Amino acid sequence: MPVPIIIDCDPGHDDALAIMLAAADPAVDLLAITTVAGNQTLDKTTLNARRVCTLAGITGVPIAAGCDRPLVQPLAVADDVHGVSGLDGPRFAEPTVDTVDEHAVDLIHRILLAHPEPVTLVPTAPLTNIALLLTRYPDSASRIREIVLMGGSTGRGNRTPAAEFNICTDPEAADIVFRSGVPLTMCGLNVTHQALATPEIRARFEGLGTEIGLVCAELLAYFASTYQRLWGMPHPPLHDPVAVARVIDPTLVGVVDANVTVELHGRYTRGATVVDLHQYVGRPVNARVATTLDAERFWDRMVTAVATLGGRTA
Ligand code: BDR
Ligand code: CA
Repeated sequence: MPVPIIIDCDPGHDDALAIMLAAADPAVDLLAITTVAGNQTLDKTTLNARRVCTLAGITGVPIAAGCDRPLVQPLAVADDVHGVSGLDGPRFAEPTVDTVDEHAVDLIHRILLAHPEPVTLVPTAPLTNIALLLTRYPDSASRIREIVLMGGSTGRGNRTPAAEFNICTDPEAADIVFRSGVPLTMCGLNVTHQALATPEIRARFEGLGTEIGLVCAELLAYFASTYQRLWGMPHPPLHDPVAVARVIDPTLVGVVDANVTVELHGRYTRGATVVDLHQYVGRPVNARVATTLDAERFWDRMVTAVATLGGRTA
């Protein structure tokens, strides 16, 4: 039976491919797509989710917009990484897929209560919506099978030397989620940096000969240019689909049990995930932390998903 999931995202180049993977892979059943402010403002991330769904022919999956700013601090978008649109690079047609008229948090709550089995949440963005869900609707927790998120790092960050973007953008929300007691898997930079989109990977998408394959190649080419410019990395890491892949096939992403604490007060380290990989300091385990990725099988699954979505020939 496919695992029921909801993806909470801020598209975002890698979020776009995470949506495609979640919609196309038969191992998961995508119940909803919710959006949040992060890589860009909420109106832009929501428009981008609609663009991706229109391109990929994803209809019948509700899209709902959520929080337009972090819980405490002001929003600081990642336009240096994702551009002014949040999805710079390819040209997108006017979206025909629309949003539902319900706040993301209300939609997630309604689905959680209505679904016959517990649902897995896959946040690939700042955790504002998820934190609000857990605080506004405490009865949600028992209906969540697991939260498998992209965010954090066992080592260094990318938004600051210490902090990864999704956690750094809303540290208070992340703190609520990591302390919630809901089963949690963290796919941080240490594992997503094993999913490198090389030119050979781009060629595989292009080689599909479809419009969506071409758009994926263009998204990855834009992502490559920003990663080269900002961090001197020749190949960009495709962060967000790694969290989806962990749900699709847990053998793709290896994990270890650990305590993860979100740093809220550090002068230079606010938003960092402090990960006790060896259970040394004695704080209780509250997360599975992803450490390894079977990159070859990950990319096979990602390319197959995009091939499945098919669509118009390029
Ligand atoms: C995360 O930050 C965003 O820019 C990406 O979409 C990803 O979710 C990586 O740090
Ligand atoms: Ca994201």
